[in-house]
Amino acid sequence: MKNEQLLKKAEEAKNLSYSPYSKFRVGAALLDEKGNIHLGTNIENSSYSLTLCAERTAVFEAYLKGARKFRAIAITSDSEKIITPCGACRQVLMEMCGPELEVIMFDKHGNTQVEKLKSLLPLSFDESFL
Ligand code: THU
Repeated sequence: MKNEQLLKKAEEAKNLSYSPYSKFRVGAALLDEKGNIHLGTNIENSSYSLTLCAERTAVFEAYLKGARKFRAIAITSDSEKIITPCGACRQVLMEMCGPELEVIMFDKHGNTQVEKLKSLLPLSFDESFL
């Protein structure tokens, strides 16, 4: 699967964003080991802190479909800057998708940066501490 193909799916998801408060649309496309793609977008709430980011929406949707192993996630927005996942999403991605997940980040023009999740969340907390 090419990064550009995943970007197209993330853009599809972005078009479904419910973001009347921030007006900042985000789309995510999560590729599982079987080649299936799970979409996510940000879904806001008038009680702002209840907002769910695009990345977590995609992860939860994938789990609901039974997917458990993942290769990559593409993330896009309408920003001039290449979007990077927020701290909360990095933590959730680490547990649900693992440190080797490829995080493919885009700006609105399609410029991209690719990082392994483990490089975006070093020294992460996990169940081994419990
Ligand atoms: N947002 C995401 O969906 N993903 C990110 O990685 C960063 C932020 C959303 C949350 C909120 O709806 C809007 O972008 C502005 O913060």
